[in-house]
Amino acid sequence: MSNKSGDYEDTAVAAEKAGFKVTVAKNGPYLVSGNLPLKKEIIVSDKDGESVAWCDGEKYPDRDRYALCRCGKSGSKPFCDGAHEDVGFDGNEMAAAVPYNKQAAAFDGPELVLTDAQNLCAVTRFCHPGGGTWRLTQRSSDPEAKKQAIQEACNCPSGRLVVWDRKTRQAFEPDFEPSISLIEDPEKKVSGPIWLKGGIPLESSSGTRYETRNRVTLCRCGGSRNKPFCDGTHCENGFDDGDESIRK
Ligand code: FES
Repeated sequence: MSNKSGDYEDTAVAAEKAGFKVTVAKNGPYLVSGNLPLKKEIIVSDKDGESVAWCDGEKYPDRDRYALCRCGKSGSKPFCDGAHEDVGFDGNEMAAAVPYNKQAAAFDGPELVLTDAQNLCAVTRFCHPGGGTWRLTQRSSDPEAKKQAIQEACNCPSGRLVVWDRKTRQAFEPDFEPSISLIEDPEKKVSGPIWLKGGIPLESSSGTRYETRNRVTLCRCGGSRNKPFCDGTHCENGFDDGDESIRK
């Protein structure tokens, strides 16, 4: 992981030059361009059911362009098959186009600061072990607690949680190549959101650009109340893309 400013606009410019982009289609799919690698990523739990790591699942063949289902109803998941039209999908984007740092609350610790934008939560629960990332941040003068707080925040796929060095004000961010992962959650027996990694530019259906970030999660169950971002509703509606990993 790296210690970064948390500002990905330079990355966005480079990514756009390379052709990487995701565009939200009005009441339709996510249109992906730039030959972005696509794979499944599965949440690994410990014996107590706590989320502790990620493991790779199925990898998809490289394609220059593809359309990912956003309504949750495609018969060819993860790709769009036009089902959004049959079901009259309402894909209205309700998320505020406000930069992360303006919507996040800050929690101070002796060595770290934790920022938290709760409405971006994708409920992957990496922030629960060890008493929680908030408590670990409060205890960050202890090197072990500090290390665990950084690890937990970096495992948060949606970027709801970001840990910062208190002195330098630099964010700890995982090193990601631009790529896309489809999250599976065997512990909850549900399929989760689309994880954009590595500063991929994201454009709304009206043509405005969301803030480019190192990690964001997009709804693919169709139920989020904070579209295009995941808000954890897939856990309530039992979204299932057919992946074997959630049938353990
Ligand atoms: S995938 Fe998480 S709310 Fe839809």
